[in-house]
Amino acid sequence: LIGSGAVGQGLLEILRSKADELQQEYGFTARVVAVVTKSRGALYHPQGLDIAQIIAALKAGGLAHYQATAERDWDALRLARDGQFDVLIEASPTDLQTGQPALDIVRAALTNGKDVVLANKGPVAVAYAELRALAAANQRHLRFEGTVMGGTPSIRLALQALAGCRITQVRGIVNGTTNYILTQMESGQAYDTALAQAQALGYAETDPSGDVDGWDAAGKAAILSALIFNKRLDVAQMSVQGISGITAASVAEAAAQQQRWKLIATITPDGGSVQPVRLPISNPLAGVSGITNAITYTTDLLGDVTLIGPGAGGVQTGFALLSDLLDIQRLRG
Ligand code: HSE
Repeated sequence: LIGSGAVGQGLLEILRSKADELQQEYGFTARVVAVVTKSRGALYHPQGLDIAQIIAALKAGGLAHYQATAERDWDALRLARDGQFDVLIEASPTDLQTGQPALDIVRAALTNGKDVVLANKGPVAVAYAELRALAAANQRHLRFEGTVMGGTPSIRLALQALAGCRITQVRGIVNGTTNYILTQMESGQAYDTALAQAQALGYAETDPSGDVDGWDAAGKAAILSALIFNKRLDVAQMSVQGISGITAASVAEAAAQQQRWKLIATITPDGGSVQPVRLPISNPLAGVSGITNAITYTTDLLGDVTLIGPGAGGVQTGFALLSDLLDIQRLRG
């Protein structure tokens, strides 16, 4: 496990609290052999670490508080190259410009015969086609359900459940932090207070300007474009506008006219954009509030298919990682 923020801790918490259920229902037992973080230390033990102790150490401030035996001087790249494990989970902070340092770590893991599961959006937004080819060449699995809409299965819906339909457009609310802020502002809360709450609740990116300026949604648009339309979108070239220009007055003005501001991402075979839009309250997307996200796939055979669910949060995105691990276990038979 690379990264120990809200998402990494969310996964560890699920693995700890649901260990018996996962074993009984799915024959799934997780052995966590390494946790590598940028600023909270590292642990590696090929026979397995104690998950409850890892959680306690992180809550106490860092992996230095982990008491049991472990090697502590591994970095992520060395682990990806030389560690003994089956699946690398990348949940470190996102860089949408370069995908780094996670991109090199993922490349190394796939090249060295490991399956990879990402919550980190950067490598997928920047280099999906390359990573997909690398995984195929090494007969490895690459999964990234948590990169769009947290644990709500937006990617699995598009790629698996809707296989056979042609998707012609994708439109939705794909950033939880901004949707939370806009919802709180409607109840009269100040922008800064709502943002601070979104950070405290583990919804915001490590650098929250990525959320409020629209880049996180743009990164998700790039991921959806690559995997649905086979088209690489450069986030820096997209038309992207965030919510920082939306004031308490404009929220109130919209409400007075039975409307709501929502940050909407649109992706078609021709490109993508992220813009704040004033929607009539009768529009289904206008009713999606708080941390909840929604995505509408427009298809040839079914028309519009809309999925609504949590789009951010530690446990919610930790579940996405679990769902990918279970998927890999199924594929391995
Ligand atoms: N910061 C992101 C959001 C996290 O608020 O939606 C989930 O990708």
